[in-house]
Amino acid sequence: MKPSTTRLDRFLSQHSDFSMSDARLLIAQQRVLLDGVAAQSIQQAVTRFTRVELDGVCLQHEQPVYLAFNKPRGVVSATKDGKHPTVLDMVQHPQKGTLHIAGRLDFNTTGLVLLTNDGAWSRRISLPETKLPKTYEVSVSRPLSEDYVAAFLAGIHFAYEDITTLPARLEILSAHTARLTLVEGKYHQVKRMFGSFQNKVLSLHRVSIGPVSLGDLEPGACRPLGASELAAISRLIQLQHSLSMPL
Ligand code: URA
Repeated sequence: MKPSTTRLDRFLSQHSDFSMSDARLLIAQQRVLLDGVAAQSIQQAVTRFTRVELDGVCLQHEQPVYLAFNKPRGVVSATKDGKHPTVLDMVQHPQKGTLHIAGRLDFNTTGLVLLTNDGAWSRRISLPETKLPKTYEVSVSRPLSEDYVAAFLAGIHFAYEDITTLPARLEILSAHTARLTLVEGKYHQVKRMFGSFQNKVLSLHRVSIGPVSLGDLEPGACRPLGASELAAISRLIQLQHSLSMPL
């Protein structure tokens, strides 16, 4: 999926006193800069995050924001909630009002949540074909066994939706704890997968999403994603989408 874009000539007509037909001349006279570089064509794409300058005046400059947040227990993955604190209530960021959550966690689940103001990016990472791996540390009420490993790899049937979960990797860490990696995010998926063994999830903590790890981020704290993390996510998305395209 492409980010929503506007053609440069249309953008200029919408954001200045010039008309679409003036755009060609403005560009030829090198009066238009896109992200600091002289524009070449009226057909160039302008996204929400393209810095556009005309005669040295900035017509648009919105920074994309990508954050990792460590969600504490008892916090709602939402922007607003009448009863409980939300992820957005806890985030301290100058552009906080523009942010949304890319991939929710349940009320009592803790750990990594991604936040952004880039809707095209959050849609891309959430698409089923992106298959971004998400890793959870989980503790359960009854002892685990190798049967779980095989069953999670084969897929668990959810009768309500009549779907079978995609192969998931379970590493048993102790009798009651494990690390689970999923490439999808069905409703209450982890709880329902263990529920199929009548085993109750006591705690659930997301430690990574694709190349982004929680590391030592404190509960309630956030940090910007690094350029290498963003590039790694883009590579993963491109790879998965090329694999899912028909030959
Ligand atoms: N699976 C769940 O059951 N809950 C979550 O919060 C995330 C995955």
